[in-house]
Amino acid sequence: MRRIDSPAPAVASHAADGTDLYEGLSRRPLSIPSKYFYDDHGSALFDAICELPEYYPTRTEQALLDRVSPQIAQRTRARHLAELGAGTARKTRYLIGALLREVETLRYSPLDISQYALEQAAASLSGDFPELTITGVRCDYTADLDALETGPGCLAVFLGSSIGNFTHLAGVVLLRRLRNQLQEGDWFLLGVDLVKPAPILEAAYNDSAGVTAAFNLNILRVVNREVGGNFDPGDFRHLAFYDRETQQIEMHLVARRDVRVHLQALDLTLEIPSGERIHTEISRKFTRDSTARLLTDAGFHLEEWFVSENGYVALALARVAAEGGTARPAEPQ
Ligand code: TRP
Repeated sequence: MRRIDSPAPAVASHAADGTDLYEGLSRRPLSIPSKYFYDDHGSALFDAICELPEYYPTRTEQALLDRVSPQIAQRTRARHLAELGAGTARKTRYLIGALLREVETLRYSPLDISQYALEQAAASLSGDFPELTITGVRCDYTADLDALETGPGCLAVFLGSSIGNFTHLAGVVLLRRLRNQLQEGDWFLLGVDLVKPAPILEAAYNDSAGVTAAFNLNILRVVNREVGGNFDPGDFRHLAFYDRETQQIEMHLVARRDVRVHLQALDLTLEIPSGERIHTEISRKFTRDSTARLLTDAGFHLEEWFVSENGYVALALARVAAEGGTARPAEPQ
């Protein structure tokens, strides 16, 4: 974890000992944890994805936030906004603007793995909202959620359907940790991408300019740097498809030829035959019911459901459920 006012290294460090990488690459099917996408270059590529004509989630969620932020601000009257994976906070500014019309003071605590993104966020927000207090913390929210600053009248936000990048169980664990940082009555705004016809979904993860492919392949460069590997991204191609059964996009890297890779820090040599896949990401798609279930399992209660005009994405406004409510798993007898 690193406060954004302290001196920054040039690239994000994942503060990992590589254990998670070892686990993913020492068994079949091969996988690389998706947090390795987001070094500074990866974050810049992801920003480019968000501008692509095929990638509807960002602009659709942004338009939805633009439309419903006043309602969210009136309902929550939050004085503290805490954001997981804030990036450059381009969408959050709608909420900030709406909240500043409702409350006297507002504190904004973004968490992100990219120092660069946090600095961009702080620079542009402090210019536009001089009355806003910003304390960004650079960390991996899957490891260090304790670093999230919360306070009375808190609204936690987690946008961009990043929750879709977790399995149901991992999502419940993450959101339950978040819930434990909040007080009863605090709020949580969750952005989800909705189930929709496969061609629309598959186009969003297979753009014609190849930016998503570059983003997916960049994970190999990050791995090389983190654990002294010698992956050649040219040896792999991007694969993304929608699985109707599990309601999720799956992302993989497929070996174009027989590949041999050595990962020095892990003391691991991999033989990957042509055609074998390395799994890099899932992106789950939700319905109102599956979102409500996820929130309930994590100790929240869904209060309001806002859907974009085209029906593509939704924002779920939830509240921390009372201790001992139905959301708590039963104690063993
Ligand atoms: N949260 C984004 C999503 O699931 C992440 C993402 C978009 C992504 N495009 C990607 C991850 C391509 C890996 C590869 O929509």
